[in-house]
Amino acid sequence: MTSYRIPFDILENFSRDVLIKIGVEPKHAAVVADILTESDRRGHETHGIGRLKPIYYDRVKKGILETAVKYDIVKETSTTAVIDAHNSLGHPISKIAMQMAIDKAKQHGLGMVVCRNSTHYGIAGYYTSMAAAQGCVGMCGTNARPSIPPTGAVENMLGTNPLAFAFPTDEDFDFNLDCATSIAQRGRIEQYVRENRPVPAGWVIDDKGQPCTDAQQVLTGLTKGTHALLPLGGAGEELGGYKGYGYATVVEVLSASLSQANFLRALYGTKPDGSAGPIELGHFFFAANVEAFTTLEEFKKSAGDIMRELRTAKKAHPEDRIYVAGEKECEAYHEQIKLGGVIIEPANQKAIDAMRAEQGLTQYVFPWDAKQDVPITVTEEKPNLKVCKYPEGAVQNMCLDKSMYVGDGCYHACSCHVRK
Ligand SMILES: NC(=O)c1ccc[n+]([C@@H]2O[C@H](COP(=O)([O-])OP(=O)(O)OC[C@H]3O[C@@H](n4cnc5c(N)ncnc54)[C@H](O)[C@@H]3O)[C@@H](O)[C@H]2O)c1
Repeated sequence: MTSYRIPFDILENFSRDVLIKIGVEPKHAAVVADILTESDRRGHETHGIGRLKPIYYDRVKKGILETAVKYDIVKETSTTAVIDAHNSLGHPISKIAMQMAIDKAKQHGLGMVVCRNSTHYGIAGYYTSMAAAQGCVGMCGTNARPSIPPTGAVENMLGTNPLAFAFPTDEDFDFNLDCATSIAQRGRIEQYVRENRPVPAGWVIDDKGQPCTDAQQVLTGLTKGTHALLPLGGAGEELGGYKGYGYATVVEVLSASLSQANFLRALYGTKPDGSAGPIELGHFFFAANVEAFTTLEEFKKSAGDIMRELRTAKKAHPEDRIYVAGEKECEAYHEQIKLGGVIIEPANQKAIDAMRAEQGLTQYVFPWDAKQDVPITVTEEKPNLKVCKYPEGAVQNMCLDKSMYVGDGCYHACSCHVRK
């Protein structure tokens, strides 16, 4: 089966409509859809629309994730707050919590908001971006279902517990370090399974402490608890695995102990009878208003100078490129916009088809629905531009050669075909 590039707005609208159909209020469905699509836009496809069905949609259908977004502020000061999210969707709750932290920082210099009984919130860097965009230093993290062991152990105790930091700069993008505290996170393993590739040695150990590179075995083993993702630094102490383990623990404590959320084994989401239950976890969101320390302009210039000086480091090989955090995501965004969207692989196409059929969202037509090629008529030709007319019955808005959607006509140079 072929992979196709689908425009972001179509994926975002589809995700939103799926969520509305299963009972999520439109304004909250729009937030989840935006954050899933933003993951794809940033090149973090492991947390993009590919996660809609296996995580959020399926959990709602199993009755272990609430569609209503309900929360209580159980404790609050001028600079802090504790939110109980009652098993609501993690994305809208987290967006609300981070905005509260930013508002407090804008008023009092610093703001920190923590959540308990929340659920999987996707990419941590979305929320830190909110802080950077509003002139703050942002930090956030979340605990997650156990999949990494403490250094010296083989039992999964900690989640891949992402930790993100962002701040504004005078570069074209905000600095945004947004990653798991393990070498790889589960989504990356799923990607290796789809691509039928072995995972790199050093990412995973089995319950005997032996390395494992079979991606499918790792994925199954993560669910059964027989395989573990290693913390940053890897196995043992030699390469500093205890540092990644330490950072994952910091995230666990900041996510769970301030908010009194569940932690470690309680996040397996397994009921006493062995069936799947809710995975109610904790998050923390922190914002510091730059203007409480220095002017925003000075801060941006100094942060930008640090990035520019880092890029001047003598390189190991002339062809190597030095990046700073946030730069690849910014480039991925512009590149994907230029190419017309994100690649949807066959496994993801199947998931989209299943949700579309179950929810009757037949107004969405995708290129993989097409059965045969049909040439289309070019009505106007200019340098690098062809305007085309679709034949009757064609699957709309799809130009086969570029595997991309186009508008009423085909506004790019290609030998135009559509399918029906
Ligand atoms: N919600 C959860 O439970 C959960 C758990 C784990 C991960 N995640 C999310 O998954 C996403 C991917 O995580 P990951 O661990 O695979 O990230 P990753 O390994 O792809 O690292 C991404 C980060 O590293 C930076 N980076 C990449 N290459 C760089 C280079 N050469 N030089 C400098 N910086 C560079 C990027 O700018 C980005 O900040 C993140 O958005 C994370 O928040 C979520």
